[in-house]
Amino acid sequence: LHIVHIAVEMAPIAKVGGLGDVVTSLSRAVQELGHTVDIILPKYNCMNLNNVKDLHYRNSFSWNGTEIKVWFGKVEGLSVYFLEPQNGMFSVGCIYGRNDDGPRFGFFCHSALEFLHQSGFQPDILHCHDWSSAPVAWLFKEHYIHYGLSNARVIFTIHNLEFGVHNIGKAMISADKATTVSQTYSREVAGNPVISPHLHKFHGIVNGIDPDIWDPYNDNFIPVPYTAENVVEGKKAAKEALQQILGLKKSDYPLVGIVTRLTVQKGIHLIKHAVWRTLERNGQVILLGSAPDPRIQNDFTNLANQLHSSHADRAHFCLTYDEPLSHLIYAGADFILVPSIFEPCGLTQLIAMRYGSIPIVRRTGGLYDTVFDVDNDKERAQAQGLEPNGFSFDGADAGGVDYALNRAISSWFDAREWFNSLCKRVMEQDWSWNRPALDYIELYHSARK
Ligand code: ADP
Ligand code: GLC
Repeated sequence: LHIVHIAVEMAPIAKVGGLGDVVTSLSRAVQELGHTVDIILPKYNCMNLNNVKDLHYRNSFSWNGTEIKVWFGKVEGLSVYFLEPQNGMFSVGCIYGRNDDGPRFGFFCHSALEFLHQSGFQPDILHCHDWSSAPVAWLFKEHYIHYGLSNARVIFTIHNLEFGVHNIGKAMISADKATTVSQTYSREVAGNPVISPHLHKFHGIVNGIDPDIWDPYNDNFIPVPYTAENVVEGKKAAKEALQQILGLKKSDYPLVGIVTRLTVQKGIHLIKHAVWRTLERNGQVILLGSAPDPRIQNDFTNLANQLHSSHADRAHFCLTYDEPLSHLIYAGADFILVPSIFEPCGLTQLIAMRYGSIPIVRRTGGLYDTVFDVDNDKERAQAQGLEPNGFSFDGADAGGVDYALNRAISSWFDAREWFNSLCKRVMEQDWSWNRPALDYIELYHSARK
């Protein structure tokens, strides 16, 4: 199959959240299985081009009175076409956050289809993602299916139904198949009026992570390479490095890490509660988070200052986006907390497990599908051929978080051998794309029948 992803994020060069990770890692997995995968991205001026190999100018074309330059390069072994409209619409220093995001990405989708058409590409599958490249689905059905590109089928993946529901509704109508990023989230949104008429073509496929990109044995950002065999030593070195860098007391505390966008989705009030509860329970907390909303950023800056005066040796907040630091936190933390109010899939709990950190999560969406509570989910895990791998809770109040957090921290203090064997066990679980990539390929084939 020849698959073309049209997307506005791609890790590591243009990543805001998990969508960027998925575009890269799903593509790599599908390519690895012998298919041809291309990616079309806007050429942002804020992109990190150091991670693009052999970037070169390819050609120009015109669409709607604008000249668009096309660049080509390799990212993580994938072929990427970068579209650079000469009207400067992607030279604004950010990916999202302007009030013209809708028209900018609409323009991008249309020009991506025009580029494929004018270049004579004949892809089998056009795969678009979220509201931002949703227009591909209906633009293709309205225009491009009638000339050029006529063999293609459109797959539309919803990573988050919160944003751009109007675009998502139109793409749900036009796409040949639609997916979302976990089975539980697919059930949670099944009643939504933009989804419910299309359940016959709507599938939940859980995300994976790329085990080569997230690999504690081969990670430049952590001090000692480790596998499940030497997880205890590897994590100890990473914890000490973190404590050193962030000025925390260098002692063996249970360390709770949080790596997140700070938005309402991520359970902000539960995060705050968990920070205080962890300190009460004699743990350490590190939060790495960036808030697109300045009010939330302010709120967390105040909390960070307060903690700095009261608990400087045991709590540290980095209110920014920092990829290298995120690696060190995944490696050095004992627990990664993800108390999301809703979570279509969530990658942080999967990355945590790859680094032998134990996830503490709220039972929603993809968190429910990937984290199995050590006390409550043995049978549900075994039905999937797995052993339990974390701590989870229901509800969206302090009592819920406490239920999971207290058990997690107690196990660290009172049953260290058991805890260490749990770290080893979660590292051995396979949360890569091995299985989900096959599901996507099957779906691509079924779209062509
Ligand atoms: P979402 O896409 O909703 O933000 P996911 O869990 O799917 O949530 O993906 C989040 C991705 O972004 C992960 O790769 C995580 O490590 C990364 N990430 C989130 N916040 C930060 C941050 N402040 N610094 C570095 N990486 C972050
Ligand atoms: C979205 C969701 C997150 C998911 C990611 C990748 O950002 O919020 O749950 O993991 O997309 O699909």
